[in-house]
Amino acid sequence: MIEVTCTAPINIAVIKYWGKRDEKLILPINESTSATLDQSQLCAKTTVAASPDFTSDQMWLNGQEQSMDSARLQNVLKEIRRRARKRKSDGSGEDRVNWHVHICSENNFPTAAGLASSAAGLACLVFSLSKLFEVEGDISDVARQGSGSACRSIYGGFVEWTMGTEVDGSDSRALQIASETHWPQMRVLILVVSAKKKHVGSTTGMQTSVKTSQLLAHRAEKIVPERMVEMRRAIKDKDFQTFAEITMKDSNQLHACCLDTYPPVTYMTDTSRDIVRLVHAVNNHYGENKVAYTFDAGPNACLYLMEDMVPTMLGLVQNFFPPEQDHGEAFLTGLPSKVSTPSQELLNAIPLEPSVGAVQYIIHTKVGPGPQVLIDQSESLLDSTGQPK
Ligand code: DP6
Repeated sequence: MIEVTCTAPINIAVIKYWGKRDEKLILPINESTSATLDQSQLCAKTTVAASPDFTSDQMWLNGQEQSMDSARLQNVLKEIRRRARKRKSDGSGEDRVNWHVHICSENNFPTAAGLASSAAGLACLVFSLSKLFEVEGDISDVARQGSGSACRSIYGGFVEWTMGTEVDGSDSRALQIASETHWPQMRVLILVVSAKKKHVGSTTGMQTSVKTSQLLAHRAEKIVPERMVEMRRAIKDKDFQTFAEITMKDSNQLHACCLDTYPPVTYMTDTSRDIVRLVHAVNNHYGENKVAYTFDAGPNACLYLMEDMVPTMLGLVQNFFPPEQDHGEAFLTGLPSKVSTPSQELLNAIPLEPSVGAVQYIIHTKVGPGPQVLIDQSESLLDSTGQPK
């Protein structure tokens, strides 16, 4: 049996992907930009093994056996095996490519929290398979076929997903535009608003949007191309004012397109909207953008901010969204952080009433590197016979 264990990060888009021009190849209608988050706080972990003794391909996710029937999963496996065969055309190790695989995967965070778990999971699967079968070169286009946003999790730092023009999707790939060390002051606070499953998945939601929203068509054609250029410059120049403004506007536009979808799709809740008001009130108070919010296909907020603003923001979140008295687990997780008590002047500037229990917990994290191979054999999720431990 040969095996490899890897971890892969989640990524949070600041210019959103929403809509496909090809459902099978997963080709987007617009480009997107994201930051990859540190794997110490949030990551997927996968062990893949191949053996001549395995009688079928099998997969387990968070302890549960999964069907291998998914077309996306099959496409990913087929493509990795095809590349591996091409590489092994000298004959060495070619047999191994034909062995069945066992895949065991888990997230170090709750899947149902709606935190880009599919992006991390699929990126981790593709990265692990590429290591197992010694496939070299860019594999972001393979990850893309597992889940669109997964292609951006193949790289660390700040990443763009290029649309591409080829019909076979071969030039629709992710590209790192700045590494995780480029903007070291950047921090991320994820406010987990609801751990309930989202009501319409992003795949279905964006399908309906492409069919019905004229606003989405305009966004893809006119607005995103301009924003991509501006965002790339803002990241390169570490211009937080512009970075924050585009991030917030782009999140708002994604959710406006969801509302323009017929029938409409809604992901943000009253708490999400309160967080938007909080951020704008803070920025207004300071007379410049100190914090930016962004929301994906769910109610959780992801806040981008500079390190020096973290204690103030944490103080504000604790003030306006305090945990329930009997809140069992830690309210604040992730990177160590100071929490400062907001001044009365700042509190007076915020038009909100405290809402107990509306935010379940906070994850404090930062921008981080791409997928990693774990060398330590004890990290494996499979036992010596290839069964989950
Ligand atoms: C709102 O990548 O989950 O998070 O390609 O159908 O698997 P599929 O969709 P998915 O969509 C993510 C959408 C988003 C925005 C983003 O990450 O850019």
